[in-house]
Amino acid sequence: SIEKKIAQQLERLTLAEKVGQMTQITLDVITQGADEFVSDEPLALDEKLVLEAIQKYKVGSVLNTANNRARTPKKWNSVIEHLQRVSMEEIGIPLIYGVDAIHGTTYTAGATFFPQQIGLGATWNPEIVRQGAEVCAYETRASGIPWNFSPVLDMGRDARWARMWETFGEDVYLNTQLGLEVIKGYQGEDNDISKHGRVAACLKHFLGYSSLSGKDRTPALIPERELREIYLPTFQAAVDQGAYTVMINSGLINGIPVHANYQLLTELLKKEMGFDGLVVTDWADIENIHIRDKVAATQKEAVKMAINAGIDMAMVPYNYNFTTNLIELVTEGEVPMQRIDDAVSRILRVKYAMGLFEKPMDKQEEYPEFASEKFEQSALEAARESITLLKNNEQVLPLKKGTKVFVTGPNAHSMRTLNGGWTYSWQGEKVDEFAGKYQSILTAIQAVNGTGNVSYQPTVEYPAEGTYDVDHLRDLNKAKRMAKAADVIVLCLGENTYTEKPGDLHDLNISENQQLLAKEMAKLGKPIVLVLNEGRPRLISTFETQMDAVLQTYLPGNFGGQALAEILFGEVNPSGKLPYTYPKYANSLLTYDHKYAENQEKMEGMYDYESLMEVQYPFGHGLSYADFEYRDLTLSKTTFTAEETIEVSVKVKNNSAIAGKEVVQLYISDHYASLAPSVKKLKRFEKIHLAAQEERTIRFTLQGRDLAFVGFNNEWISEKGDFSIMVDQLKQDFYLSETKTYNQVQSLAL
Ligand code: IFM
Repeated sequence: SIEKKIAQQLERLTLAEKVGQMTQITLDVITQGADEFVSDEPLALDEKLVLEAIQKYKVGSVLNTANNRARTPKKWNSVIEHLQRVSMEEIGIPLIYGVDAIHGTTYTAGATFFPQQIGLGATWNPEIVRQGAEVCAYETRASGIPWNFSPVLDMGRDARWARMWETFGEDVYLNTQLGLEVIKGYQGEDNDISKHGRVAACLKHFLGYSSLSGKDRTPALIPERELREIYLPTFQAAVDQGAYTVMINSGLINGIPVHANYQLLTELLKKEMGFDGLVVTDWADIENIHIRDKVAATQKEAVKMAINAGIDMAMVPYNYNFTTNLIELVTEGEVPMQRIDDAVSRILRVKYAMGLFEKPMDKQEEYPEFASEKFEQSALEAARESITLLKNNEQVLPLKKGTKVFVTGPNAHSMRTLNGGWTYSWQGEKVDEFAGKYQSILTAIQAVNGTGNVSYQPTVEYPAEGTYDVDHLRDLNKAKRMAKAADVIVLCLGENTYTEKPGDLHDLNISENQQLLAKEMAKLGKPIVLVLNEGRPRLISTFETQMDAVLQTYLPGNFGGQALAEILFGEVNPSGKLPYTYPKYANSLLTYDHKYAENQEKMEGMYDYESLMEVQYPFGHGLSYADFEYRDLTLSKTTFTAEETIEVSVKVKNNSAIAGKEVVQLYISDHYASLAPSVKKLKRFEKIHLAAQEERTIRFTLQGRDLAFVGFNNEWISEKGDFSIMVDQLKQDFYLSETKTYNQVQSLAL
């Protein structure tokens, strides 16, 4: 059995070899010079540096790419084949290669790119999410890479955050349902990752990745109750599903670096949650305990804290400090040998599960469907289902073919902005170089509507290089003349690409130049269709009322231009729904599941004015060209015990002459509770297709557990009392006749 083989390895390996297994470096450390990125010529590995890494430091893992650039699958194969050969010769253990393939095989030229996770969240379609993950796993393994640093299971609950688009949005239930599909897509239902086309998932970033300031990797304060209720359930479900690896949150929670937090890593993740896989750090985050967080006075102290807290593998991209420090710490008795053996066992468990000992690498030739038409079709379908129609006054959409359209804005003709970060490179700045063959919004509109019916000028442009949050305004008068000659303006605004800290913002408002362009276009009296192509909801309230239609594309991938054009001209009926609350004002950021006190409509007797907490568009919102009507929301009974199931049914009818897809969303609200309840919580959803005039009855089953929240003792509890179930505008009340707690937990010292 695997456990027996692991035990034999532990007997055989020296301390240095064990610590080497726990070390992960970046490919940059062992390559030399630049190469021809898209040629199949082998990548120039520096033989001396490879030997230093594997022979001297016994490195057991490598990540990402040299020079932050995409390579052909063949070139990837040559890199990994070489490293595996040296690793098998020197240590007798295959190396584990990891990469951030978060919406497709990030660093592989020619790979199929789906919408980014936020867009997949907007599909509310588990099947589509699963297919995307399967394609991604297939193409990643075709490149010879068996480990994917994905999915992101963090909560996208802060519009300011530069990693918002890497999440499935703000809701716990939606995140959990879709996150599980990604794991099944990567690892298969049976979690046999030795099979063709499978990769190990990496759940990130455990736990509570968020911040007070909205800036990346800045401190967060999270009470244990909230940690358990909001941040934990998705990770727990993913661990139960069998995910093999977990990456740790770079941040500080309540003043403690998560990488040094024994309570979170060992007590919670490994013991309480039962995770027996591999825990890897984020980039240089053991060093950060010393350098940035100043909790450890030396590098060595930081290594001791992290390993004793429960870290199994250190992403120490550029050096071997970790390795030398850890060997010393074990020799001095500061880190127990048992902890090292536990870490190495966890690493070997994954390597064995991947089948790397029998076959250290899969080859491109075994993957004939790489970038096939079938895969591209499925990425296109995902983009179609993600794009969300937020507003459609006077049914300005769909446009008739042949309409004279003026297309403008910085996002109109850029493959880069359609894809976002982690595409061909970390910040996505190389996309146009690699994705030239796909359609931008502009070229897709030209293809659908006829080039002669489309005029174009960007008017606002992002610079080709440099900071993402900069744009320039040019030729405004010319834009006005061109717009006047058209019937409709398609205004493509949004953001340039970014991720992580480089995407931090000073101001959530969409840029001043873009606001100006929108306002100037609005003065012309032509219908305006605003297309938002952005990774987080940038504020548009200064001009939104002057827009006739608004479409959110998120970061829809290489097929997003085509999908959008099809929606604009009615070839496809939009069906995306917002996976987050679109804020209206910078001081009114809230999630849909806020407490009542956040958003009182009136405080009677005290104040007589409306709440200031207005949102631009609510969570779950998204229009269709069809017209859906809900009726007959019915519950099986009106009083339940916590052991009984609650059967809910509702009828949905498509009253229009065209087919469409609708997401039926079921929310629950607890009227009174011992801790202030949320106004509502999503508990079930189903995306359905209805033909013209078709009616269907949708049924959901709820359990007592669905009514629970994390109470005073940090345990899930459903309290007796009155509840409501809401579907669309319909509402039914019921009574829960007893209180129940669901698990025993040991409170964590946080
Ligand atoms: O996986 C990523 C993580 O999400 C952010 N920091 C770098 C890691 C490896 O590239």
